[in-house]
Amino acid sequence: MTHLVEIARPKRTVELTIDGQTVRVPEGTTILDACKTLGTNIPTLCYLETLHPVNVCRVCVVEVQNARVLVPACSRTVEPDMVVSTDSERVRHSRKMVLEFLASSVDLSTTPDVDGWLASYDCKPERYGPPAPDEAAGERDALPTGHHAPPNAEYAATVGQPVKVDNDLYVRDYGKCILCYKCVEGCGTDYQNTFAIAVAGRGFDARISTEFAVELPKSACVYCGNCIAVCPTGALMFKSEFDRREAGTWDESKQTQVSTICPYCGVGCTLELHVQDNEIVRVTSPLDHDITRGNLCIKGRFGWRFVQNRGPRPMGGGNGQAGGSAPRGGEAGGAGGNGAGDGHG
Ligand code: SF4
Ligand code: SF4
Ligand code: FES
Repeated sequence: MTHLVEIARPKRTVELTIDGQTVRVPEGTTILDACKTLGTNIPTLCYLETLHPVNVCRVCVVEVQNARVLVPACSRTVEPDMVVSTDSERVRHSRKMVLEFLASSVDLSTTPDVDGWLASYDCKPERYGPPAPDEAAGERDALPTGHHAPPNAEYAATVGQPVKVDNDLYVRDYGKCILCYKCVEGCGTDYQNTFAIAVAGRGFDARISTEFAVELPKSACVYCGNCIAVCPTGALMFKSEFDRREAGTWDESKQTQVSTICPYCGVGCTLELHVQDNEIVRVTSPLDHDITRGNLCIKGRFGWRFVQNRGPRPMGGGNGQAGGSAPRGGEAGGAGGNGAGDGHG
């Protein structure tokens, strides 16, 4: 039997100018990736190489000569003879505004790199006024679509609200959510196809929500944690990390990463165990792994507590409910199957 092997056609290259430097890249390359070949760093928040671009944060915008508007570098592809400016006054002004709006309304305290960006774009989020007090639990979730209260001029509007802690595996702190859509994409068509979360509401009332804002254990969530893996701000966080941060014992400088293979099934996903004080504190998977693309299922992501369970365990599997029932109060510790989606696109 003859097997036909399709050989990818070589791509044509495109020549363009970025900040006065000529660069030649394969057609279809984004401006962001073309910039990387020159060592030019562009800030990004909603972009991730494993997800479809949604272009919502606009922090990556650059100026293209003769274009009416600034363009998102993360998704706009290069064109022949394009002339791109990544640091013009217009670009810097736009990034400053975007970052100021975010910093005045969202808790960015666990967003990597953002402090440096705020400084380099001379952002002054405090000029919008003191942050409004947090809303009561559930208040933002109950906002009716289409009804907007007039803003309170005394305060900068915020998305502040109590952290949602409704299971043992991960917490949702939507006071840190910049609405980048990454979790929705990861839970939806990009990877998990579970559709447990989506954007509800409109305008400033928009928020990430489960169906009818039910608690996570009552939602369609299968606890793959793929949303945590892509969240750029720490709004979605392992409970183990959250607890350590609350106790003041989270210290990334003390953490080591160990690569291993998930022992639960034959897919053999690569796991990166983040270890602090001889305890696994979270588990990730490399984005550039061609099997996982950073994704895992509940067992690989959360089923590691048995490794450090020091007490004796009853024969017969303890509660026998590792996996699906764990988020409802048990421990994702045993090797029980749970029918959860496997998280691989
Ligand atoms: S843990 Fe998985 S299923 Fe649950 S909301 Fe996140 S991506 Fe969706
Ligand atoms: S929870 Fe995280 S990933 Fe989801 S929209 Fe908010 S910031 Fe983005
Ligand atoms: S990173 Fe490009 S629009 Fe968000």
